[in-house]
Amino acid sequence: ALIDKGNHRHFMQKEIYEQPVVVAQTLSSYLRTLEAKVALPDMEFDLGSVERVAIVACGTASYVGAIGKYWLEQMARVPVEVDVASEFRYREPVLGPNTLGLVISQSGETADTLAALRHMKSEGVTTAGIINVPTSSMAREVDLLLPTHAGPEIGVASTKAFTCQLAVMAALAANIARAKGKLSDADEAVLVKHLAEVPAAMNAALAHDAEIEGMAHTIAGARDVLYLGRGPDYPLALEGALKLKEISYIHAEGYAAGEMKHGPIALIDESVPVIVIAPSGPLFDKTVSNMQEVQARGGKVVLISDSEGLAQAGEGALATIEMPKVHPLIAPLVYAVPVQLLAYHVAVVKGTDVDQPRNLAKSVTVE
Ligand code: G6P
Repeated sequence: ALIDKGNHRHFMQKEIYEQPVVVAQTLSSYLRTLEAKVALPDMEFDLGSVERVAIVACGTASYVGAIGKYWLEQMARVPVEVDVASEFRYREPVLGPNTLGLVISQSGETADTLAALRHMKSEGVTTAGIINVPTSSMAREVDLLLPTHAGPEIGVASTKAFTCQLAVMAALAANIARAKGKLSDADEAVLVKHLAEVPAAMNAALAHDAEIEGMAHTIAGARDVLYLGRGPDYPLALEGALKLKEISYIHAEGYAAGEMKHGPIALIDESVPVIVIAPSGPLFDKTVSNMQEVQARGGKVVLISDSEGLAQAGEGALATIEMPKVHPLIAPLVYAVPVQLLAYHVAVVKGTDVDQPRNLAKSVTVE
């Protein structure tokens, strides 16, 4: 079937808007809501024996891995390492016997990731893959295929594949945790409830589209933009910066909020917008104090938080974007939406080729 943009101006916009549906679609094959269980496809190995996880991916998918590291270590208490695929093989990684190798890829064809997968297999490592294209090379070669059901993604800058990958990553983390005796039935039920709420929360996030469009004009005039986050929202800050770079060509950097004082704070003045991703929760106060360091130097803050967070710290921000209140664990899935919309609208203001940004390819099949 031909894929068209429907009522949308760009595929990227359409794909951002599809997220509540495709994330629900993806979750439906991993959640057994009636039994309050998270399930995976059948596999020929025991997840309880996993002692380490080595995650390899490129680009946006690598940030799913970085978020997954927080989740896997917190929930399952297994050490996780995350590499971009182009570095993985050549650093001669030490892959112990009970390592699970995990590749994440929308296309399933990215050359570096495929080569990393083959390297892991040649070292005798059991592999799994979070992959969107079920007929791809990686999908055929992994020991355990964990499909995302995002549907075809046409926009070169990944959006819906990212959030679907996160949904599957959460399901994998929960299953390893349960297999290792680290996730009680009660905790699993809570997790299922939170994950099942994601599509509705994404819809609530999408409702702020017009506001975000309104701030795009200010951001479009900037030369540099910083994104800050903590915990699982730190890799989301990296993804926010990547999205903006890819499609608007504005220089952007993501930083762990607490690391800002070790360098990037030197860049801050009135001309640098700083996007702060900070759901209320245990890390909120720390992030707010980093945000205040920015404000004290004249930096223009866009604070993305929930009503509680905005009531506490929204004053003095250039702009705020209110997200629904969600559990900190699933926040990256929901907060991805305003981050993507912001990049999208800035690119539209700048008049770039949103779906086919210069110099980029949807699937990179050379090393
Ligand atoms: C390209 C795309 C990115 C994508 C990356 C990895 O660089 O432009 O959007 O994140 O490849 O692609 P994959 O298909 O492996 O997820």
